[in-house]
Amino acid sequence: MANNLLKGKRGIIFGALDENSIAWKTALKVKEEGGVFTLTNAPIAMRLGKINELAKECNAEVIPADATSEADLANLFTKSMEVLGGKIDFVLHSIGMSPNIRKEKPYGDLNYEWFQKTLDISALSFHKVLQTAEKLDALNEWASVLALSYIAAQRSYPDYTDMAQAKAMLESIARSYGARYAKLKKVRVNTISQSPTRTTAGSGISGFDVFFDFADMMSPLGNASAEDCAAYITVMFSDFTRMVTMQNLMHDGGFSSSGITEDIVERLSK
Ligand SMILES: NC(=O)c1ccc[n+]([C@@H]2O[C@H](COP(=O)([O-])OP(=O)(O)OC[C@H]3O[C@@H](n4cnc5c(N)ncnc54)[C@H](O)[C@@H]3O)[C@@H](O)[C@H]2O)c1
Repeated sequence: MANNLLKGKRGIIFGALDENSIAWKTALKVKEEGGVFTLTNAPIAMRLGKINELAKECNAEVIPADATSEADLANLFTKSMEVLGGKIDFVLHSIGMSPNIRKEKPYGDLNYEWFQKTLDISALSFHKVLQTAEKLDALNEWASVLALSYIAAQRSYPDYTDMAQAKAMLESIARSYGARYAKLKKVRVNTISQSPTRTTAGSGISGFDVFFDFADMMSPLGNASAEDCAAYITVMFSDFTRMVTMQNLMHDGGFSSSGITEDIVERLSK
């Protein structure tokens, strides 16, 4: 059921790789709610992914950008404003990658060059997006900028290695830039901390199936799906959440507030 929540709003959606991506589901939901947007991803991901299929379905233009490149980001914002016919009202940063996780490096044997890449791609890129937008004065008042995080920013997860530090930095950037942008232009900046979700990035973490099932049992509502996340993002882009900023918003079926659940007790009593 569509409610035209985003009618008249223009945006940029980063990170749709394939139909499982949270950004992919978000694009479909935002379109359903009347928003218009450009789609972007790293040039390499474009070749591997299926973003053009999504672009067709959403009637959206694709503008490649490596989110670690300030030049690419400047081009992305400038072109998006041209294509969409005005300043931007919403941005989704749905980007994460750790070469250490990809190459299965344990936490006691991290490659530091790769660690810096993890931070650059998964966290610093969020600052670059915000700083580029500010320098180009690309955002309208009350624009909503979101990035996706994970509870490993607050708690230890052995196989999440350096991504845990990246998520902690990402959430910190949302607070610091949120304070700045609110004063400058009433722009709000938040992160959404999402349940484990079966996507390319998610499933790349070793032991993913186990912590997916564990989180599901530890969440009274069960794990939040990518579709649920897309719906929450859409509401956060809308005018119904105008006073929410500088927050890390838990979207996890109750996981983060649970001590133990009946499902876990039952499982461990067997
Ligand atoms: N899947 C999960 O379990 C889960 C849980 C919580 C948070 N998240 C976060 O959600 C976000 C989206 O991930 P997803 O699960 O949809 O997986 P995904 O693999 O579909 O999306 C990750 C995207 O990051 C893009 N990317 C990587 N390097 C980039 C670069 N240099 N420039 C631009 N884009 C780049 C990839 O091309 C891909 O589209 C990530 O921030 C991820 O950490 C995922």
